[in-house]
Amino acid sequence: MDKIIVHGGRPLSGSVKISGSKNSALPILAATLLTREPCIIHSVPDLSDIHYMLQILSHLGAHVERASGTVTIQAEKVATVAPYEIVRKMRASVCVLGPLLGRHKEARVSLPGGCVIGDRPIDLHLKGFRALNAACRVESGDVRVFADELRGAVVNLEGRQGPTVLGTGNVLMAATLAEGVTVIDGAAAEPEVVDLADFLTKMGAKIEGAGTRQITVEGVKELHGAEHSVIPDRIEAGTFLVAAALAGTEVTLRRVNSGHLGAVTNALNDAGFRTDIVRDSITVFGNGAPNPLHLVTEPYPGFPTDMQAQMCALLSRASGKSSVTETVFPQRFMHVSELKRMGADIHLDGATARICGVPRLSGAPVMASDLRASAALVLAGLVADGTTEVNRVYHIDRGYESIDDKLMGLGAEIQRVKHRATA
Ligand code: UD1
Repeated sequence: MDKIIVHGGRPLSGSVKISGSKNSALPILAATLLTREPCIIHSVPDLSDIHYMLQILSHLGAHVERASGTVTIQAEKVATVAPYEIVRKMRASVCVLGPLLGRHKEARVSLPGGCVIGDRPIDLHLKGFRALNAACRVESGDVRVFADELRGAVVNLEGRQGPTVLGTGNVLMAATLAEGVTVIDGAAAEPEVVDLADFLTKMGAKIEGAGTRQITVEGVKELHGAEHSVIPDRIEAGTFLVAAALAGTEVTLRRVNSGHLGAVTNALNDAGFRTDIVRDSITVFGNGAPNPLHLVTEPYPGFPTDMQAQMCALLSRASGKSSVTETVFPQRFMHVSELKRMGADIHLDGATARICGVPRLSGAPVMASDLRASAALVLAGLVADGTTEVNRVYHIDRGYESIDDKLMGLGAEIQRVKHRATA
């Protein structure tokens, strides 16, 4: 397995271009299954999760072509079964269920794997499909959904931990081809849901309210091909903002949508960092130790759970006591034990990390446990004394396009050590 070695203490400066959003691209690529016509998707990031999704689409019978950031997909005929070998690697494979159900009125997909961030059920996805008149069964590790006819309905997808992002997308995709009107209450309002709805609308779907907690879909008979550019990745951008706050002098992020980053830039401002926004770029100015903060993760537009680990790394160096409470995935704290190995003073109190800032972190061998946790460890390594060796970096490659090259472009000293299989 590859590892990333970070030599701490090199200041970051310059500019970096943010890639297209992974979490937008995944359901948008799945949505191409809704039509037999070709779809062209631009700004698709080069990530292992995207490769898995394209493999799934190819396996289902779609013709997939990729040329740098543009993917052309034509799903003239598609199968309805996605087996374990190809879906197990990524939880987001579950988002082919909605389009297959919409187009073929049936789908069978292995129950998803993916990030180890606690129990990740799909009961709300199934609740939505059932409301549309589909039957759902779990058989031999697969989830099977089928219907004679999909019928529009009113359904509330709010769960105990709030709305579901992929669940909203899944039900939205199925509803585009259902008979009649579907109203999704308790819908996720994340920008990635809006991006998906924009793409579906270009395909001929009739959708209102995306970006609010109530989405209305008027089913149509069929959808057609469309061309679309994926929005910039707000989590990659947020990660670079935190990297710059931790280790930067002056760093500019290009191709960002600052409107999607309000919660993160507000937190950084509260922590004492200046952020200047000019059109589609943000410049952040490093400023020494952050002020302590009390953060709570929430659904959009609240502070994103996908930025929680990176903020823990930043606040490890704050000039006082901070707290970070996780409400979306209450068990998502695997990075804490690794940050502590680097000298951070963090105490877990249920779903709250209590962080007492320390003036220095020290490099150590650490283990990446999930995508965002790995990013947090790389960020901590940027300011740690000595060398940090981040193992299991396949997690980071799932969601960050060339993070090592991009950080090196800003002046970080990072090496990727390729794993060589031994005979
Ligand atoms: C998406 C993002 C992920 C992000 C998360 C929350 C993708 C590919 N991934 O994941 O990066 O961290 O949104 O912003 O877009 N839940 C249920 N039942 C369900 C579905 C979810 O109880 O059927 C719970 C989850 O356990 C969690 C909460 O709802 O506690 C939110 O999960 P959800 O929004 O569904 O996450 P994903 O869409 O899987």
